[in-house]
Amino acid sequence: MNFRHLGGSGLMVSEISYGNWLTHGSQVEEDAAHACVRAALDEGITTFDTADVYAGTRAEAVLGRALEGQRREGLEIFTKVYWPTGKGPNDRGLSRKHIMESIHGSLKRLKTDYVDLYQAHRYDYETPLEETMQAFADIVRQGKALYIGVSEWKAEEIRAGVTLARQLGFQLVSSQPQYSMLWRIIEAQVVPTCQELGVGQVVYSPIAQGVLTGKYRPGQAPPPGSRATDEKGGADFVQRFLRDEILERVQQLKPVADGVGLSLAQLAVAWVLQNPNVSSAIIGASRPEQVKENVKASGVKLSAEVLRRIDEILGPVAERDPARTGSPPKRP
Ligand SMILES: NC(=O)c1ccc[n+]([C@@H]2O[C@H](COP(=O)([O-])OP(=O)(O)OC[C@H]3O[C@@H](n4cnc5c(N)ncnc54)[C@H](OP(=O)(O)O)[C@@H]3O)[C@@H](O)[C@H]2O)c1
Repeated sequence: MNFRHLGGSGLMVSEISYGNWLTHGSQVEEDAAHACVRAALDEGITTFDTADVYAGTRAEAVLGRALEGQRREGLEIFTKVYWPTGKGPNDRGLSRKHIMESIHGSLKRLKTDYVDLYQAHRYDYETPLEETMQAFADIVRQGKALYIGVSEWKAEEIRAGVTLARQLGFQLVSSQPQYSMLWRIIEAQVVPTCQELGVGQVVYSPIAQGVLTGKYRPGQAPPPGSRATDEKGGADFVQRFLRDEILERVQQLKPVADGVGLSLAQLAVAWVLQNPNVSSAIIGASRPEQVKENVKASGVKLSAEVLRRIDEILGPVAERDPARTGSPPKRP
């Protein structure tokens, strides 16, 4: 496993990290969740990503149990705040009240005194940015989070956040956007701004939720047990990529992957890691074998010719519009 700096900070993270959205506390049972975390640790992953909202807070609790007994200094634990964790109007968003209450819940469930990275899971247009940033500054000062990050913020929102963070004396070091060969909307604005500001990308869904493994075939039903058949929520999220136009082109990538001795999943993870602004690619897994396969993308260098072939094949279906980066206009 190779390690990279998290943005311009001194913190090192594994360039492939493990995340538990949709899986822990939902799609997979506790023992399968623990087996995936075990596989991640065995393969050298030290960076783990979760969120208060995942599986109605159960995902953090599963991860906390799965990591129990590990040397805390050998782990980087990331979590997030914004999406609803309860029914009340203050159980969501980035108000000082919710941020303070949510970090305490996360630390309890994760069984740790601090998280390495605390991330604003979206931008909250109903809270002054100054209020949010002051709350983050206080959390960092209290030692409950070491660094602050954001997720799916637009370039100008990241710039405003970084400016305030500098004034308040803490580091806003990362952005967590969706990024894959099929979803390239950060390339035009978010990446150049972040490069300038010393903010790194911790990218999610690098294999487009399983679509870039090639296991979803055009004109065929999704394989049993896959996310597309997960009625607890997964099926809705992966739907956007399940169009024959996309699935046919993904099949055309197979000879490109074979040519460099990689599986399609490994090619997809390696592809996001070619971007020097990416600090880590967060992979998800419903089975330990998936972790073992996908981590082999660490350290892979793809040639300009391979990158050109990928652009040629997926170009017509890859989403690139920077206007698609964004957060709900009102809190959910
Ligand atoms: N900030 C945000 O808003 C946000 C949003 C989404 C995700 N995230 C983070 O990013 C993490 C990863 O997201 P993701 O789960 O969408 O990532 P992903 O790595 O693109 O997709 C993971 C899923 O693909 C399938 N898969 C993985 N490897 C495979 C292989 N080798 N062969 C066949 N199928 C394979 C598995 O699903 P099945 O086996 O069920 O098909 C697995 O759960 C999340 O856990 C979370 O930490 C953040």
